[in-house]
Amino acid sequence: MKRTFKGIGALAVGSILAVAALAGCSSSSSDGSSADAIKVGLLLPESKTTRYEAFDKPLFTSAIEALGNYDVVYSNADQDSSKQQQQAESAIAAGVKVLVLDPVDADAAASIVEEAAAANIPVISYDRLIASDQISYYVSFDNEQVGKLQAQTLVDGLKAEGKTSGGLLMINGSPTDSNATSFKEGAHSVLDDSGFTILAEYDTPDWSADNAQSWMTSQLAQYNGQFVGVYAANDGTAGGAIAAMQAANVSPWPLVTGQDSELAGIQRVVSGEQYMTIYKSIKDEATKAASVAAALASGETVTGDTTVDGIPSTLLTPVAVTVDNIMDTVVADGFWSVSDICTSDYAAACTAAGIK
Ligand code: BGC
Repeated sequence: MKRTFKGIGALAVGSILAVAALAGCSSSSSDGSSADAIKVGLLLPESKTTRYEAFDKPLFTSAIEALGNYDVVYSNADQDSSKQQQQAESAIAAGVKVLVLDPVDADAAASIVEEAAAANIPVISYDRLIASDQISYYVSFDNEQVGKLQAQTLVDGLKAEGKTSGGLLMINGSPTDSNATSFKEGAHSVLDDSGFTILAEYDTPDWSADNAQSWMTSQLAQYNGQFVGVYAANDGTAGGAIAAMQAANVSPWPLVTGQDSELAGIQRVVSGEQYMTIYKSIKDEATKAASVAAALASGETVTGDTTVDGIPSTLLTPVAVTVDNIMDTVVADGFWSVSDICTSDYAAACTAAGIK
């Protein structure tokens, strides 16, 4: 009952916006694209993690523009789910034919899918899974495998140092992100039977590096010197944990995991502050989302490579990156060049690691 009422209220606002949008509509949109372009909504969740503005947005835009006359209606929610709801309503009012939605909050975003469905707009769940059975397609990576790779690479690295036991601290992602749950489950499936002991564990609100840093600072009062590894779910939270440990002169320095192959993360892997990260080809993810979006916008039915909860899906393969395979992964794929990575602060470490 409550949900229906909320839905109707939101739709009424949507209709007013639609009229306003039509009234203000002239022969071309604000970015100069032609009036007959097919509008496609792209809604990304946050901007502190660098991938969204630096990779997902431009790669999706160029991929769909290569397929025809499309106009991307873009918004970033800055980790605020009610802002994302408004952005979705604006995109619907602007006349998008399909929504590509990376949700801030998996549960809250279900109401966006309902509103879109009421307007006959298909929704692609992008990277993060939305808690709705009305999604038309899901494009992501094998996220449980991400967690397994992070944890297995950590355990293998510790064993290579001759360690078979010791303490670990675990910094997971946002509790509203379904991916964070998958990363965590994948990591636990390896760590729980690894011989290492999880001393404490934290779900980081908003995936915020600042929250990860504060939590790590609070744990150091108790555990400084007693842990050999830090499982951090992505490079942002790894960066927060590392800043806290540097400030407290942590010794011995633990092996630290990450994800995303952010430039700062890759540079920390080169310098040894961070042990590993995960490379996910955002180009493949954005390109797949663009081709599915183009097909759905023209009313075609799209079949998946697999299904997740009954939804046609594509799950791409993540790769673990340590200092030993930076050249064969992020550099070989053109994600970062050697000159991006090996700035003056990292030149000596690059040379030592054979990154040239
Ligand atoms: C994405 C990660 C990202 C994190 C924080 C996850 O859903 O899969 O690549 O680091 O969100 O934005």
